[in-house]
Amino acid sequence: MAKINVEKAEGKLGILVVGVGGAVASTFIAGTLMARKGLGVPVGSITQLSTIKLSDGSTPKIKDVLPIAKLEDIVFGGWDIFEDNVYKAATHAAVLTQKDIDSVKDELEAIKPMQAAFDNKYVTRLHGTWVKKADTKWDLKDQLVADIKNFKEANGCSRVVVIWSASTEVYVPMAEVHKSLPAFQEAMKNNAAEVSPSMLYAYAAIESGCAFINGAPALTVDFPAMWELADEHNAPICGKDYKTGQTLMKTVLSPMMHTRMLGLQGWFSTNILGNRDGEVLDDPASFKTKEVSKLSVIDTILKKDEYPELYSNIYHKVRINYYPPRGDNKEGWDNIDIIGWMGYPMQIKVDFLCRDSILAAPLLLDLVLLADLSKRCGFKGIQSWLSFYFKSPMHPLDKQPVHDLFAQNIMLRKKMREIIGDEGYVNDYQEAEY
Ligand SMILES: NC(=O)c1ccc[n+]([C@@H]2O[C@H](COP(=O)([O-])OP(=O)(O)OC[C@H]3O[C@@H](n4cnc5c(N)ncnc54)[C@H](O)[C@@H]3O)[C@@H](O)[C@H]2O)c1
Repeated sequence: MAKINVEKAEGKLGILVVGVGGAVASTFIAGTLMARKGLGVPVGSITQLSTIKLSDGSTPKIKDVLPIAKLEDIVFGGWDIFEDNVYKAATHAAVLTQKDIDSVKDELEAIKPMQAAFDNKYVTRLHGTWVKKADTKWDLKDQLVADIKNFKEANGCSRVVVIWSASTEVYVPMAEVHKSLPAFQEAMKNNAAEVSPSMLYAYAAIESGCAFINGAPALTVDFPAMWELADEHNAPICGKDYKTGQTLMKTVLSPMMHTRMLGLQGWFSTNILGNRDGEVLDDPASFKTKEVSKLSVIDTILKKDEYPELYSNIYHKVRINYYPPRGDNKEGWDNIDIIGWMGYPMQIKVDFLCRDSILAAPLLLDLVLLADLSKRCGFKGIQSWLSFYFKSPMHPLDKQPVHDLFAQNIMLRKKMREIIGDEGYVNDYQEAEY
């Protein structure tokens, strides 16, 4: 294994969040500021809480051995289509209590969104008022590049990571313009419909040499033209769609069925949620993007081609229903029809009463720290070791993604040990000692 030379995490790390006024973004930012003041525990964050097994038998905390940036060194910024500062946004989202939000009021008030690159055709339920103007999508991208440069200079940052946590755009399938960099550049200059605003942020980040993370399910950075660009500018990229609630459960339960050779006949998943994300996903075109991301999981884990007698005929359905009274407190139901010995049917029911942004916030913290680390390690292009965090992990077109949460955990830790320079064999799971 070649030794990885990791550039030190010196100076400030800028985190630019697209959709900085959203529920997830404001919960992530407020929580991180609370954690660094010692006012709360960053529950759910692997980088902050988990230990790692090393080949000498020790189990130090990841944050003590992996050269990630310190929370104290982070500076937040971002873009939104509404002008509210992040204090107002967090209050509006009402995920955290007012008492918690007020505990970091000054810091939150100081984070004012930059004007967004937005087009209502791609998020039809929202009407932005804090939006950039330009003749072409190429020019809009240039404005975003200038934003990143100005933010970096104004805040004295040595590095910047850009993370998409904005609304889910309508479904834009991969087309010819996405398949090569020159074709995509031409499409930006010609205002082609296949170029959505999220792609402009991704392009601007990569062109600026920054790591880019896509937390939503849209195509955004997941096509050959962007991979080419990332390679050219030494930018690490990853996505898509934070793996938080229902899909997290799916990628835990499916490996159980597969490992025990239980059959699966059908999986019906439905959700109610009442936040702005739920309102956006109420539009069938935005839901389509989410549906594609949510549906891919089961087939890959169960390997129906290897086990046609167990998995060849699965009926898989996903529904998301906008139901305002619930706000951010989503409820996700799963009805799972499984098959046992001699083909006898059984059922599993899951009722997950979760909080969407509370589940997502620690993933954003880990992702920005690990994406910054990737950049300092000299990694570029798709970061498959970060698949752990995504519903629909990015992968080269000729490869299958890994969905099983525990397989993803092994990939994550293997790469962390490689970065630490721990070269011995480690099994991440407990083995009998007798
Ligand atoms: N919470 C979860 O568990 C979870 C899991 C996976 C993915 N996601 C995705 O994360 C994203 C954020 O979720 P949320 O609950 O915070 O939604 P939200 O609606 O509260 O926040 C989205 C924010 O993005 C802003 N926005 C929209 N288009 C923009 C643009 N072009 N530029 C800048 N800002 C823009 C909106 O004004 C809003 O403030 C969504 O796409 C959601 O699907 C969330």
